[in-house]
Amino acid sequence: MNYARFLTAVSAARKPSPIRMLTELQQRSPPSLISLAGGAPNPNTFPFQSASIQVKNGQTITFDEVAMNRALQYSASSGIPELLTWMKNLQKNLHNPPTASYAPEKGQMEMCVTTGSQEGLCKVFEMLVNPGDNVLLDAPTYSGTLATPLGCNLINVSSDHHGMIPAALKEVLSRWDPSEVHKPGSTAPKILYTIPNGGNPTGASMTTQRKQEVYELARQYDMLIIEDDPYYYLQFDKPWAPTFLSMDVDGRIIRTDSFSKILSSGLRIGFVTGPKPLVDRVVLHIQASTMHTSTFTQLMVSQLLHGWGQEGFLQHIDRVIEFYSKQRDAMISSADKWLKGLSEWHAPSAGMFLWIKLKGIADTQQLIMKKALEKEVLLVPGGVFMINSSEPCPYVRAAFSLATPEQIDEVHTHTHTQEHTHFYTDFNLSQIFPQAFRRLASLIKEAL
Ligand SMILES: Cc1ncc(COP(=O)(O)O)c(C=O)c1O
Repeated sequence: MNYARFLTAVSAARKPSPIRMLTELQQRSPPSLISLAGGAPNPNTFPFQSASIQVKNGQTITFDEVAMNRALQYSASSGIPELLTWMKNLQKNLHNPPTASYAPEKGQMEMCVTTGSQEGLCKVFEMLVNPGDNVLLDAPTYSGTLATPLGCNLINVSSDHHGMIPAALKEVLSRWDPSEVHKPGSTAPKILYTIPNGGNPTGASMTTQRKQEVYELARQYDMLIIEDDPYYYLQFDKPWAPTFLSMDVDGRIIRTDSFSKILSSGLRIGFVTGPKPLVDRVVLHIQASTMHTSTFTQLMVSQLLHGWGQEGFLQHIDRVIEFYSKQRDAMISSADKWLKGLSEWHAPSAGMFLWIKLKGIADTQQLIMKKALEKEVLLVPGGVFMINSSEPCPYVRAAFSLATPEQIDEVHTHTHTQEHTHFYTDFNLSQIFPQAFRRLASLIKEAL
């Protein structure tokens, strides 16, 4: 692949920061190295001494003085080595990417840590999208992506509850001739963005067949695919769907993963995985912006993961899935009870969202932002997930992730009294979903 053709002028012009390179060199060197090179502050002057963090399974994550000094110090822009190595092994085991064995310049699989997957996505867009470019996506889509000020022309590819429709993509792409996409001045899209599992807001998950067809079209038109997959680990049914990364024989997939939905959203840990020439550019951008994701949170997560091993990590994921699938079932049964006949929805097989079409309501904005608020029920009007948010939209997004304070209290009680393998399952699901949908149902009836 000729990666240079995809880079924006800003990204192509990025140069390594000499100071950052010295810092990273120093951190890879033996302790006997006397370095007067770095401009790092002396951690002995920092007020924090040590930390000990209790994990719910009884494990303790400790930062003695040495570890604490490291946690409080600058670190490598691509991420701390032990977290990166752990994640690379996980990626290889889960996705077996063909690119893992490629030469670096041919698109070898590379990774970096980002401050949440949002940072990775934003930097990937800046690397690849010029103002005026045509970019493909399947709207409705994540409002965080739409908020990125790309100045590009977003082209919607139709989708349904199985994700982007390959025939619709083919139709959109038929405006261009595949043999001409490399010609100077071609307006053919170079980028396709999609959320393949438990889409935000639609809850849609793409089938393997569709992914294969979309990948083939990407090959035909020499496009990169941005696979934004924060709900990958929240797929309720096994086996999990193969990812675009697992099909990537060319090195045209840039994948973003997130720990937000499974470990913590506040720690801000995400990952970019993709061809080395592109991931290296993201790292150059990190060098010039945040410098790196918090060393402290990376070390905290790394200790947790090394303590768990891959098996322990996947067991934790199973418990998270069990929790969310129960929440999903509770929301669906409330919707069945209160919204049947008034609305339509598909039960999502991943993620944390139910995408509800209100029958007979042309646009949900007013209903939700005014009347629903008065009735004390908050949902997201579907328009905010559309490319043109001013067009009428009959949908609302309901999240089934939320837990009431009573539920949270229960977690605390159960953690101390029960085997931790059970505490996710013993929720007494409260009345919150039925209450919300009863109120929504009465609002729809009033509006009809
Ligand atoms: C589709 C999608 N992508 C990316 C993100 C950003 O997640 P984070 O930055 O917390 O990893 C979210 C958050 O909700 C999301 O729904």
